[in-house]
Amino acid sequence: MAPNALLTRLLAAGAIAGAVTTAYAADEARRYTLRRVEVPLLPAGARPLRVLHLSDLHMTPGQTRKQEWVRGLAALEPDLVVDTGDNLSHRDAVPVVCDALGPLLDVPGVFVHGSNDYFEPSLRNPLRYLLPDDGRRHTDTPQLPWPELSRRFTDAGWLDLTNRRDSLQVGDLRLALAGVDDPHLSYDRLDVVAGPADPAADVRLGVAHAPYLRVLDQYAADGYDAVLAGHTHGGQVRLPWPGGARALTTNCDLEPARSRGLHRHPAASAPSDPGSSWLHVSAGLGTNPYVRLRVACRPEATLLTLVGR
Ligand SMILES: [Fe+2]
Repeated sequence: MAPNALLTRLLAAGAIAGAVTTAYAADEARRYTLRRVEVPLLPAGARPLRVLHLSDLHMTPGQTRKQEWVRGLAALEPDLVVDTGDNLSHRDAVPVVCDALGPLLDVPGVFVHGSNDYFEPSLRNPLRYLLPDDGRRHTDTPQLPWPELSRRFTDAGWLDLTNRRDSLQVGDLRLALAGVDDPHLSYDRLDVVAGPADPAADVRLGVAHAPYLRVLDQYAADGYDAVLAGHTHGGQVRLPWPGGARALTTNCDLEPARSRGLHRHPAASAPSDPGSSWLHVSAGLGTNPYVRLRVACRPEATLLTLVGR
């Protein structure tokens, strides 16, 4: 075969492979999945507590399939909803998010915001997501209506944990809660929320949008039983690997091995270790709306069932 003909065939094969991969990744970004996880952290003998962890909806008005799927989550009848931010990706998304949540807003809930609640998304090179953090933060686009989102959530009774501690009675259980504003933008005020978690509470939960190590270290040192976060999108693009697909990045300083799912913090700790917490990182339900691609990392919400130790 002539060199030119071979080159043409190689380029054509590369273009087809690229198109197939992109089509697969675009389909995967719409395969919404419910994960169920059991976490043994309640006092022995306590009734299980069902916590629905939502994160990174990145909602736009046109994403009707995602809205329908989120609307169906109310059928799970959770006892508590934890929303770890990045709900918005459009200036008109607040009523859309609230409509999709529907009856979930009548359930006790807590929330923090992420950077994408604050600023409009912009078109970015998708490959940059796979590269090491260059320190740039996208705060130069117009602000999104996050105060309206906060107001709608708090009017419904959800607790705003933006750089705050609070408590909540859910059934028989008293929860001690702490949250920080988005650590990815360095908006977290650990100096405000730091301090021993209420030892008299039945459960101590810390939340943050982005699971930066300084935040996880603080919550673990303060005695929180579990920390819930999002932001990582589970790596969003995971590489096939023996034993399971691997994330390449978390878009923060957490290592890729803990980019999603249930882990400990510090990572090496056993469940009974004092000074360590459970860590649940949600891979979230969305992506930047200009790059709706996921590979080996389905969009997810998680029903965490907290049970006795
Ligand atoms: Fe996000």
